[in-house]
Amino acid sequence: MASLIEIRNMCKIYNPGENEVRALDHVSLSIGENEFVAIIGHSGSGKSTLMNMLGCLDVPTSGIYLLHGSDVSLLSDDELSDIRNQEIGFIFQGFNLISNLTAFENVELPLIYRGVSKKERTNLAKEALRKVGLENRMTHKPSEMSGGQQQRVAIARAIAQAPPVILADEPTGNLDSHSSKEIMNILRQLHAEGRTVIVITHDNDIAANAKRIVHIEDGRITSDSANEGNLSRDDIDKEIRSGPVVYDSDVEEIPNEEPIEAFAEPAETQDDFDIKITDENIDLHLIGDKQNEQEE
Ligand SMILES: Nc1ncnc2c1ncn2[C@@H]1O[C@H](COP(=O)(O)OP(=O)(O)O)[C@@H](O)[C@H]1O
Ligand SMILES: [Mg+2]
Repeated sequence: MASLIEIRNMCKIYNPGENEVRALDHVSLSIGENEFVAIIGHSGSGKSTLMNMLGCLDVPTSGIYLLHGSDVSLLSDDELSDIRNQEIGFIFQGFNLISNLTAFENVELPLIYRGVSKKERTNLAKEALRKVGLENRMTHKPSEMSGGQQQRVAIARAIAQAPPVILADEPTGNLDSHSSKEIMNILRQLHAEGRTVIVITHDNDIAANAKRIVHIEDGRITSDSANEGNLSRDDIDKEIRSGPVVYDSDVEEIPNEEPIEAFAEPAETQDDFDIKITDENIDLHLIGDKQNEQEE
């Protein structure tokens, strides 16, 4: 059976010519279904470039990318957009939430674009927010939440339609160690449920959560091996089986402030949102990505 992800001899050269940057230099990588892989390397090593390739957000200069056995370079823009929307849940360092929408609306918005019915998207959004421990935060706007909570909203948005692949680029880069642990617990849980989870990080502690660690340096893969860190597979499985993740940062704050019924009538159409939509095919989960890339 073909791998879920198969990259062969991929190169990415920015600014070809005199000042060219070889961000990926003959990278080959296979990732199977339900793997939990950390891609680790220093700043500038090519991690985000690789993520952009894996997420079909950019095209390589040369080399092949097979996703589910089909050559991504042969797909139309619409087909690529479908893959990004349906196959991959993106999580970014900067959360990329829309500031004037509530947590619920942020999670719901991509579902509106995908044509999901009001009833179903309400269920999906609520379920996703429940899964990340934010059932009591659905009417909060990003500015009313901590960084860790905002990233959990972003994760809820990424997983609402159960994409088989989760691609996270420095998901804990803007978070304190406690919030980082919560985020990694959620990613481990998603892996335990059968998703393929790919986390890009420069942080060894974050990478220690993964089952497989791929090192990248100067655009080349320098090692690729099973994780033999201090947390054994049994330890992690035990932790996951011991019950849902507990978010102690939530306990003291505003309990039960919003009855769930408040969401029985979510916004009916795009017009109900206070944002301008100029392109129906816009990839919502990518909003703000460019800006966040600069922050690193
Ligand atoms: N759009 C771009 N144009 C030119 N150079 C870029 C661009 N994006 C990244 N690079 C360069 O490519 C290399 C790899 O960058 P990147 O993939 O962002 O690394 P990382 O995510 O590991 O920090 C760096 O030298 C970076 O400066
Ligand atoms: Mg990066």
